[in-house]
Amino acid sequence: MSKGAHISSREQYDKLYRQSLDDPEAFWGDIAESFHWHKRWEKPFCRCNFDMNKGPISIEWLVGAQTNLCYNAVDRHVEAGHGDRVAFYWEGNDLNQDSKVTYRQVQDMVCKIANYLKSIGVKKGDDVTIYMPMIPELPAAMLACARIGAVHSVVFAGFSADSLAGRIMDSRPHVILTASAVKRGAKPISLKTIVDDAVTKCEEEGHKIPFVVVFDHSLAQKRSEVPFTSGQDVWWQDVIDPQPIECDVEWMDAEAPLFKLYTSGSTGKPKGVQHSQAGYMLGSATTFKYVFDHRPDDVYWCTADCGWITGHSYVTYGPMLNGATQVIFEGIPTYPDAGRAWDLVDKYKITVLYTAPTAIRSLIQKGDSFVTKYSRKSLRLLGSVGEPINPEAWKWYYEVGGDKRCPIVDTWWQTETGMHMITPLPGATTLKPGSATLPFFGVEPAVLNDQGQELEGEAEGYLVIKRPWPSCMRTLAGDHERFEKTYFEIYKGYYFTGDGCRRDKDGYYWLTGRVDDVINVSGHRIGTAEVEGALDNHPACAEAAVVPFAHDIKGQGIYAFVTLMDGYDYPPDESLRKELVAMVRKVIGPIATPDVIHWAPGLPKTRSGKIMRRILRKIASKEEDSLGDTSTLADPSVVEQLLNLRGK
Ligand code: WT7
Repeated sequence: MSKGAHISSREQYDKLYRQSLDDPEAFWGDIAESFHWHKRWEKPFCRCNFDMNKGPISIEWLVGAQTNLCYNAVDRHVEAGHGDRVAFYWEGNDLNQDSKVTYRQVQDMVCKIANYLKSIGVKKGDDVTIYMPMIPELPAAMLACARIGAVHSVVFAGFSADSLAGRIMDSRPHVILTASAVKRGAKPISLKTIVDDAVTKCEEEGHKIPFVVVFDHSLAQKRSEVPFTSGQDVWWQDVIDPQPIECDVEWMDAEAPLFKLYTSGSTGKPKGVQHSQAGYMLGSATTFKYVFDHRPDDVYWCTADCGWITGHSYVTYGPMLNGATQVIFEGIPTYPDAGRAWDLVDKYKITVLYTAPTAIRSLIQKGDSFVTKYSRKSLRLLGSVGEPINPEAWKWYYEVGGDKRCPIVDTWWQTETGMHMITPLPGATTLKPGSATLPFFGVEPAVLNDQGQELEGEAEGYLVIKRPWPSCMRTLAGDHERFEKTYFEIYKGYYFTGDGCRRDKDGYYWLTGRVDDVINVSGHRIGTAEVEGALDNHPACAEAAVVPFAHDIKGQGIYAFVTLMDGYDYPPDESLRKELVAMVRKVIGPIATPDVIHWAPGLPKTRSGKIMRRILRKIASKEEDSLGDTSTLADPSVVEQLLNLRGK
């Protein structure tokens, strides 16, 4: 156990955990004291209903308080004399592209963006869509929204024009902040072209976006090559750079929305997960401090993009609320070669590295020499997030990456939870490779069986959470009913996570993956229904059914069974496979690229017409020996047919 850690023993963890459940107000109230409040909270501290039997679900923390997250993440540190502290070491995609931004410079940057947004009429409560690469201007833009009370919706700059358009149509922003292009690896991607396509789509659907602000990212693409629409587009450097560096903060009610972030569900279009101010601030900041055992001289690097919740809670908000110094990286850990991540560790003397199992597996594959040629002696702690970490990857990360010196915090959480929920604390928790271990303070998990009964002790079942925590999502943007239905209706009185888990005899949690129709591809959620919908767009596709299968690098891959329109022979021409894959990439984005297209003259269906996905999952996993009962199929011969078409 490490000496001097914030939480330095199991006894201390147990005591604080108990207190956090017995007296949440005392526990979180004490933590809240270290932030700035324009107005203090009143009674009750927490006003929540987590039980649909008792009425609509509602979650309110620090009732009556007013604060501002940007003030707490930036101004507070500058005013405390830390203006010269580095906030970001920025590393570009290509070697020798880097810069350094201090907290004072972030403050200037944020105020300029905020002033510009105000100048074009963005007000408290208005939506702003952000579609940008990992450059310092991205977290700064998020903080600028927070400063003036605008609600940001960051869309990962890897999603397609269609996906971006869908998110824009849902939140109807006054302005889109984007950049000319991004480089992730060898080839530049023109973000502006994608934004233009999305804007056109929105116009066709009747929503005109008045302003598109384009950051001229000349390292990725020459300005002269960027498509530019006069009357709509403005260059960031022209309109934001000249703005004044002072901008008053807007004091926000504790429960006003802070941001929306879209994530895939098991049905329908992506859900706009909505988080609010004060509770999210406490949750993201406190987990950052304790889980990464933050120290002032740390150099922290989270490899996630701000387009995902990890980048919201553990790049923009958690670290900055703690005044941390961090590295942000525009590129990918395998470019120009698989040593890049470790090169950055040495270059910036990184102490804490937070990444995903999929990245670890892709590095393992390239061989240890890319790692061992760097010293990595600055590292003291490693983190993992996004999917269960398999024991081989855990062992390699621990032994090779961290030289057997650095504990690994395997953090289980979700877009919806806003903060780490089940995670080790490095000074207090004895690790077990592959287990996210124990609940964070204030988090009360439970394991349910199929009938929704709570299981005691050692158990396997559905993971649910029994009581609200500060940074719990508040609603789904514009659809509180879907929010209640998705998370609270199935097991009344609990928040349903959508994950399966096992609890061992020591009370440790082992996450076993999604139990709904969501595929976890490289730590990102892809709804099977979304991929099916995308395939359906192709005129040759009559029906599609998508299931996960185990993938060496991605964790799970996307396996699509496709039935073609009448008149096609099986297997059809190879070009059709390419067209279908291209269709999914176009409609959703490259992250949803199907790994396998399996031609299916028929799909296994029940007599009532429901696709039996259980059978498809078995076929996708090459486990057809254990198909189970197929007697309820309307046409049992389709299984044989499918097996004959494997690999065709
Ligand atoms: C889903 C949430 C939250 C950050 C990134 C993903 C899976 C996440 C772990 C972990 C096992 C994990 C779960 C969860 N997941 N972290 N440490 N161990 N599974 O956020 O896109 O909202 O996905 O990711 O299945 O439900 P997300």
